[in-house]
Amino acid sequence: MKAVICEQFGLPESLVFKEIPTPTITSKQVLIKVVTAAVNFPDALIIQNKYQFKPTIPFSPGGEVAGIIIEIGQDVNHLAKGDRVVALCGWGGFAEQVVVEANRAFKIPNNINWYTAAATLYNYGTSYHALKDRGQIQPGQTILILGAAGGVGLAAVELAKKMGGIVIAAASSNEKLAICKLKGADYTINYSQEDLRESIKKITSDKGVDLVYDPVGGALAEPALRSLTWKGRYLIVGFASGTIPSLPFNVALLKGCSIIGVFWGAFTEKEPALSMQNLASLIQMILQGDIQQEIYKVYTLNQAPQAIRDLIDRKVIGKAIIQVSEEKDATNPTSIDHKIEKTIQENLLTNIKLPVSFLNKTDLLQAVGRSLGTSNWLIVNQTMITDFANATLDKQWVHIDSEKASLLLPDGKTIAHGYLSMSLVSQFLYQMIHIEGVNSFLNYGINKARFINPVQCGDEIRLHASIAQAELQENGALKLFIQCSMEIKGKSKPAYVSEIISLIF
Ligand SMILES: NC(=O)c1ccc[n+]([C@@H]2O[C@H](COP(=O)([O-])OP(=O)(O)OC[C@H]3O[C@@H](n4cnc5c(N)ncnc54)[C@H](OP(=O)(O)O)[C@@H]3O)[C@@H](O)[C@H]2O)c1
Repeated sequence: MKAVICEQFGLPESLVFKEIPTPTITSKQVLIKVVTAAVNFPDALIIQNKYQFKPTIPFSPGGEVAGIIIEIGQDVNHLAKGDRVVALCGWGGFAEQVVVEANRAFKIPNNINWYTAAATLYNYGTSYHALKDRGQIQPGQTILILGAAGGVGLAAVELAKKMGGIVIAAASSNEKLAICKLKGADYTINYSQEDLRESIKKITSDKGVDLVYDPVGGALAEPALRSLTWKGRYLIVGFASGTIPSLPFNVALLKGCSIIGVFWGAFTEKEPALSMQNLASLIQMILQGDIQQEIYKVYTLNQAPQAIRDLIDRKVIGKAIIQVSEEKDATNPTSIDHKIEKTIQENLLTNIKLPVSFLNKTDLLQAVGRSLGTSNWLIVNQTMITDFANATLDKQWVHIDSEKASLLLPDGKTIAHGYLSMSLVSQFLYQMIHIEGVNSFLNYGINKARFINPVQCGDEIRLHASIAQAELQENGALKLFIQCSMEIKGKSKPAYVSEIISLIF
């Protein structure tokens, strides 16, 4: 198999891309076919022999991967061949296959895409543990986040905001701070131009901050500590600057403050139950669209040294990802995807004339199981995607920057927001169904939503729909469940599927 190998400790330029033997597993391990791997700060340290874990050379760096289990040890019961997983392997991940201790691999739902999968565990796991378990952040508290556009920093910005914090993001450039703003930061400080302490005084009207989240260390630590309010908490997350600060204890005494260490790796091993709960909460947040990692760039496997170089040079905003192999969403003959494809084929054959009309609620009740046919095609163009980005303030470059997309994304096209596809369902349904004699038709909810295939700029999409279920309520209203599947022209997998729940009075 192919791998990026560290044959002698040094900078990324000394790594080599070569063929190595396929690894073998023991009874408590699994072998993973790597689809995507994340680039994290420890990858930069481990190749220089500066990290707390020191593998013997030769080895492949890459401590966080997403992929598919292809072999399983005989003592492993909670995983199976074919499972989609994310895994913390320590090293070995910048390779086509990696061996992982089974308790360091975690199953993920099918509808989390491979980039998100590789980009989530380490950054969000660390920041969620830091803010929730160690910092115990409360709504309305002010938090200063240093290195706020880095991997863990940007995750902390998003999560602190979701937890009700008032976020001051601090970073070294205005470009980085602009991304922090998009992710929800309330205030920003460019510490390469502004005095950190003075800016915090101004923002907090001299009160100081309740929490500091510090993955950088070095010269920023002391002014940050001095900016804490009475009984504030200082979260020590890392030392990306390369300098472990020595802080004056008298400041802690005078402020009655706490200096709290955060070691997520140890936490996952020593408190596995709480760690799994955190992971489940994070997966839920991803599925609900509450958090979304900023992907800086997708590199090929042989470009992994360049990805580490970009991280060291402080170019990466959010996360750099290595695409190790191509893998579509997991499918098996009984999966929902397969059933949806079958429904699409059936709908096409029936050639239903639109709109499908219903005279009243009884008519609808009798139509359960009936197809509503297929809408007209709609082209998703850049104007629609940009309008949606402006309306939702979700202006990530993957959606709106076609120049950057042409250079950095695998197909060279920008990608529509999943929520744009989702919101187009109502527009399609309006074309497809007509109900007479009803007072109101309310969109009440969505069941089993899955974003399966990204819609790229220029794609043509259309909707297939059928009435899955109808329930008469005690108040006379009708709850209608419409099964929807959004097709992308020329692609076998749908963009989006869900069951739309409507209330009809
Ligand atoms: N405690 C834990 O459990 C835990 C878990 C994960 C990570 N960490 C640690 O947290 C730190 C950040 O990790 P990360 O993955 O977020 O890294 P990252 O994506 O590279 O972000 C680090 C940020 O630090 C800032 N920085 C300042 N001086 C730097 C320098 N000399 N070299 C590189 N960056 C510098 C940069 O922001 P500006 O350019 O804006 O200053 C950069 O964006 C690392 O030390 C890592 O080991 C700890």
